[in-house]
Amino acid sequence: MLGITVDGIIQEARAEERLIDVINRTGNEVPQVCYHPQLGPVQTCDTCMVEVDGSLVRACATTVSPGMSVITNSVAANDARREAFDRVLSNHLLYCTVCDNNNGNCTVHNTTKLLAVEHQEIPFRPKPYEVDDTNPFYRYDPDQCLLCGRCVEACQNVEVNETLSINWEDPNPRVLWDGGSTIGESSCVSCGHCVTVCPCNALMEKSMLGHAGFLTALPKRALKGMIDVVKGIEPEAGYGTILRVSEAEEGMRESRIRRTKTVCTYCGVGCSFDVWTKDRHILKVEPGEGPANGISTCIKGKFAWDHINSKDRLTTPLIREGDKFREATWDEALSLVARRLAEIKAKNGPDSIGLISSSKCTNEESYLMQKLARAVIGTNNIDNCSRYCQAPATAGLFRTVGYGGDSGSITDIAQADLVLIVGSNTAESHPVLATRVKRAHKLHGQKLIVADLREHEMARRADLFLHPQPGTDLVWLSAVSRYLIDNGLAKTFFIDKWVKGFEEYRKSLEPFTLDAAAERCGLSVDSLKKVAHMIADAEKVCILWAMGVTQHSHGSDTSTAISNLLLLTGNYMRPGTGAYPLRGHNNVQGASDLGSMPNNLPGYQSVDDPHVRSRFEAAWKVPLPKTRGLDNHQMVDAIHEGKLKAMYLVGEEMSIVDSNANYVSDAFSRLEFFVVQDIFFSVTCGYADVVLPASPSLEKEGTFTSTERRIQRLYEVLEPLEGSRPDWRIIQDVANQLDAEWQYQHPSEIMAEVASLTPMFAGVSYEKLEKYKSLQWPVAADGSDQPLLYTKEFAFPDGKARLFPLRWAETPEQPDAEFDLHLNNGRLLEHFHEGNLTYRTIGIQEKTPDTFVEVSPELAAERRIQDGTWVRLTSRYGKVRVRALVTDRVHGNELYMPMNSVESPINRLTSSHTDAVTNTPAYKETSVNMMVLPEVGESPLPRTNSRWGHPTPQRGVEVERKWLRSDYHIPGPELVQIQPRQAR
Ligand code: SF4
Ligand code: SF4
Ligand code: SF4
Ligand code: FES
Repeated sequence: MLGITVDGIIQEARAEERLIDVINRTGNEVPQVCYHPQLGPVQTCDTCMVEVDGSLVRACATTVSPGMSVITNSVAANDARREAFDRVLSNHLLYCTVCDNNNGNCTVHNTTKLLAVEHQEIPFRPKPYEVDDTNPFYRYDPDQCLLCGRCVEACQNVEVNETLSINWEDPNPRVLWDGGSTIGESSCVSCGHCVTVCPCNALMEKSMLGHAGFLTALPKRALKGMIDVVKGIEPEAGYGTILRVSEAEEGMRESRIRRTKTVCTYCGVGCSFDVWTKDRHILKVEPGEGPANGISTCIKGKFAWDHINSKDRLTTPLIREGDKFREATWDEALSLVARRLAEIKAKNGPDSIGLISSSKCTNEESYLMQKLARAVIGTNNIDNCSRYCQAPATAGLFRTVGYGGDSGSITDIAQADLVLIVGSNTAESHPVLATRVKRAHKLHGQKLIVADLREHEMARRADLFLHPQPGTDLVWLSAVSRYLIDNGLAKTFFIDKWVKGFEEYRKSLEPFTLDAAAERCGLSVDSLKKVAHMIADAEKVCILWAMGVTQHSHGSDTSTAISNLLLLTGNYMRPGTGAYPLRGHNNVQGASDLGSMPNNLPGYQSVDDPHVRSRFEAAWKVPLPKTRGLDNHQMVDAIHEGKLKAMYLVGEEMSIVDSNANYVSDAFSRLEFFVVQDIFFSVTCGYADVVLPASPSLEKEGTFTSTERRIQRLYEVLEPLEGSRPDWRIIQDVANQLDAEWQYQHPSEIMAEVASLTPMFAGVSYEKLEKYKSLQWPVAADGSDQPLLYTKEFAFPDGKARLFPLRWAETPEQPDAEFDLHLNNGRLLEHFHEGNLTYRTIGIQEKTPDTFVEVSPELAAERRIQDGTWVRLTSRYGKVRVRALVTDRVHGNELYMPMNSVESPINRLTSSHTDAVTNTPAYKETSVNMMVLPEVGESPLPRTNSRWGHPTPQRGVEVERKWLRSDYHIPGPELVQIQPRQAR
């Protein structure tokens, strides 16, 4: 800390702190149009001028130094600020009363008021450009644009999509997309960063326009008339009067606009934000304070919410009658569910029933599902979809370090010197987390290695891209480990102190020579040596991995190999290091944490541990089943074998997201009784006997746990749509129909029960999670959490980690003469999974209307395929018809199919092979043949998809180019000194 003087009063400041932040802390109101704390100094507006030791400086770009003397209210500083803001205003037509941005947080409005501007010295000058309306989610109005460059900074250096720039040299500068494209045909990924940080109405969500204000829904001509009226009274009345009128209107808005905090319902990054609503209309999503995301979102979190008010929502329970369903009352449906479950249990025993919880549901709902299974029905047949993706990563970490979760936070990933990404299309599957890597790589010299079959965005950005043969990651990871040991590059001091099993592990590496690995993986020895040396040279290494690793027949072993490599190189126990299996669904981490697993009660407490069981039995007042139950893969087999007769499935499109979908669907049609709970009539609902209408995340309270083990609260944004109910209420209703007598009035009571029974959650309470507060498990009884795991020891009784020996075996599903191509699959940025939620957002449907198969240019040339050619893919398990997209993202005989399709789901092609340890399907090991069909359609990717765009990377807003304009001078009296731009 150091001391500076602000307006004669001594203030404490942190070394290197920005002066503007210190001034803001004092409560002294200095204008700051272009400054946003999460963007850093952009320096385009000059409205933050203050005097420091006799010179005028931009407060945003000045870092404090000991003894600095700051005067904020000198005549020179005030004059400079007024002049600067006058220039800003000349870019903006001020008509607050009829503006949808008049919500109390408009920087232009508030600065006009702060500076008591009555009239502009420099009149407003319209720009010779049309409004750009070509993106489905937001629009740009050049006449409202201040040229502050916040949007450019956000796009270039936070989102790092590098779409935006400002043409400073042009006589009429404006914001440009891809250097001059329309927004709709640019590389813009609709993440919304630019819209979120825009300080005025130049960039606005279309869902706000005409909806936020009382007078803004007027027809265009009438609205223009109103704007003319506002401008007409300005010369006589001044802005003060106009602002007072607009503030009265703003006050009226407050009574009808609600701002409610929630957590994103899509991926596991855990972005949180306020949702603005007017009745049931969603005005906008406003990120800002989220601990994982700050101002960041991706297209889904920012804009993909049309499913909430979709006319397709289920609003009444349905009961099967023959081949049809009829509507039923809740009482009738619930009593039928209870009666049939009780009958089947009485006849066949509790283990003839299986329950599947949802990773889209809250922690509290997952807890109730497993309690319903164990304490009410009496079976451990309970699982969740982490079986399909995350279980192998969890197993690999349990084997080596003890906890099945990310070993640090997203901030650790950003701090690493080297990030290694294996089998993860991070920029599309975990977009906001990817921005932190892209930013660190672009601005802070972080190194990036990517190993993947596809040359996706992260691969293209990488310093080193490895393209191993499908399914061989374990081999090259182990070879790199062996090379590190053989060449004295392992961190022996760390191993000696913290790790057991070194000798046995070292022996297990014997077959993994560089030469053998290079041959099996199709990589060069040099590239493997380079990986090893980059890891050895880096002080802090994080490894990120996802389904490209886990969805293989040795996904657990490859996850283990990753953790072994980190242990070997001492990359645990320090900030900026560690293992990061990226969790797919918003609450896939929480679904397992809360015990929706066949072998574990909440908090990974084993069902076969009598002490654990007796604690739960005492609390729940029932005896509990002692042996592990069936996982969801085994449940499907058990249905085919006639052992599992009934199933209660919540929020899972299991009939098409489980692998070998034809086999799974066939199983569902054999069930004696099947209950499906969802918000839409999914494909899986088609097999049900009873369908129960649930509420989506915006209509309930609870908590989600993100990939960084972060527990966050979501609040009820909207009341449940009439006829639907939050899942926790429905599960309780089912339990009570089965005489459970649960009496939870609010999810906080469920969490209190969790905390009392689960050491990992001992200190979790809703009070500690108020608003944007969060906790990263394990949470001790005193409420202290662990953003970084393993600071004192590893999670084994002796505190030591384990190196786990591994062996390599070929994967069972290999291409042959009949099935000659390898088919990979995964997510697309715009859609979540099969798309049941995201297809309901019209703008997403426009940009990404269908799935497709990516074909390499070489294979396309050989088979005479072009964009839009229809092909039939046939595997050993099924077939689909799909259009081709020719792209160099894939190579040779490798195909890629995104999973966003209900009509042609990838899982009609995938097999029933699984990871030996966890039964996770080997989705990524599929061999197919491809028949070229005679029809050629449109390209499956419309021209408005961002993948056709041409980004324009630059260092940021490049304000220096503005300062070189002949019409630019620093505002205020002459002989000012401006400090040079600060490094970020
Ligand atoms: S990608 Fe598009 S929405 Fe995202 S910040 Fe850039 S221009 Fe804005
Ligand atoms: S569009 Fe960009 S440059 Fe224009 S006012 Fe908004 S943030 Fe500033
Ligand atoms: S989908 Fe993931 S990255 Fe996108 S806003 Fe939601 S949580 Fe964030
Ligand atoms: S706030 Fe714009 S230059 Fe400082």
